[in-house]
Amino acid sequence: MTIETDRLRDRVAAELLRARERTALLTEAVDEDDLTRQHSPLMSPLVWDLAHVGSQEELWLVRDVGGREPLRPDIDELYDAFKHARRDRSALPLLTPAEARRYVAQVRDKALDVLDRAPIDGGRRLVADGFAFGMIVQHEQQHDETMLATHQLRAGAPVLSAAPPPAAASVVSGEVLVPAGPFTMGTDTEAWALDNERPAHQVFVPAFHIDRAAVTNAAYAAFIDAGGYDDPRWWSAAGWEHRQAAGLTAPAHWQRDGDGWAATTFGRTAPIVPDEPVVHVGFHEASAYAAWAGKRLPTEAEWEKAARWDPATGRSRRFPWGDEPPSARHANLGQQHLRPAPAGAFPDGASPLGVHQLIGDVWEWTSSDFHGYPGFAAFPYREYSEVFFGPDYKVLRGGSFGTDRSAIRGTFRNWDYPIRRQIFSGFRCARDA
Ligand code: AVJ
Ligand code: FE
Repeated sequence: MTIETDRLRDRVAAELLRARERTALLTEAVDEDDLTRQHSPLMSPLVWDLAHVGSQEELWLVRDVGGREPLRPDIDELYDAFKHARRDRSALPLLTPAEARRYVAQVRDKALDVLDRAPIDGGRRLVADGFAFGMIVQHEQQHDETMLATHQLRAGAPVLSAAPPPAAASVVSGEVLVPAGPFTMGTDTEAWALDNERPAHQVFVPAFHIDRAAVTNAAYAAFIDAGGYDDPRWWSAAGWEHRQAAGLTAPAHWQRDGDGWAATTFGRTAPIVPDEPVVHVGFHEASAYAAWAGKRLPTEAEWEKAARWDPATGRSRRFPWGDEPPSARHANLGQQHLRPAPAGAFPDGASPLGVHQLIGDVWEWTSSDFHGYPGFAAFPYREYSEVFFGPDYKVLRGGSFGTDRSAIRGTFRNWDYPIRRQIFSGFRCARDA
């Protein structure tokens, strides 16, 4: 046992604990009825997410890494995300909230015992650098963000609160030119990067302009006021069809407020804040706005080059600001605030070219379908990424105010259906140079 592996073990244990504290916050904020209720056909009941988090931890840390006996083999099927659609989960014979809490605590006890004994300094690739533990930390934090999205869809009195995000000393707008050239996309060196972020590879990106900030509520309201939702010129065929079928007229949770707009955020309704990024828009809405503005969405490679490429050295950074992990100075992450921060609120998090808030605030739609990089190999299971590859999903980048720092990197890839907007999704625009 070296000092180094002891440190890694301590870091893993601290991250597991931090994730569990957030899970507790999200599941203790509401009563039993709220935990078991289907708040939206798009979301699982919160108590399903809770026990599913434990189930994945049991599968990977207790059974696989630890080689221990299963605790609850009888419930594997109930908490397999591929076996039941989200909308059907509240009708299943799920663990009650009390049983689910007991279950996740028992699994955690065993997982911590496995952590004490696992050869995290090498041996099996699954365990090297604590990867399996990091994967489970990220999995819990991802479900915490999903539970936060369920909270946003829940009716009734507010139960969550947080300090408002920092203000911007000066509002950031306009665009920057990213020169043509190759950059390194993806990673071979991030210890806890997931399979779809690998391997690192060179991509030649033609010159392009990208917005220094995400599209704001004020800019998006101007698109609505200009009749953007009623003009098929700005929409793709599929986008227009969806706009018509779903009757879209504004971002989710917006409502008219005099001649302006208000939005309901975790149960509280207030006028939209002009300089904050727009949130709860789908890919089709983002694309339509961009077309109206004479721009387009960035490709995934453009987004990552803007976020990671250092013009001084030509190398790709871990984050826009450098290689240090995110802190409160760099980005609005981890549910510290319950909304995105205004454009310009995190000057210390900007990229060398002056692109702001790529990490945190809102997930940013890109124009790219979700595919494996050249040389992709599923690890450790095909159902994390590979089964979603193809034209049905669009990639989102950068994380939101609801994304934990352990579950975001310059290389991190999220994906969703283009019609989805219950996630904390916004966008920024780009254009050819
Ligand atoms: C990466 C956010 C698309 O929530 O569907 C959670 C993450 N995978 N459990 C999802 C995930 C398995 C995933 N996303
Ligand atoms: Fe999951």
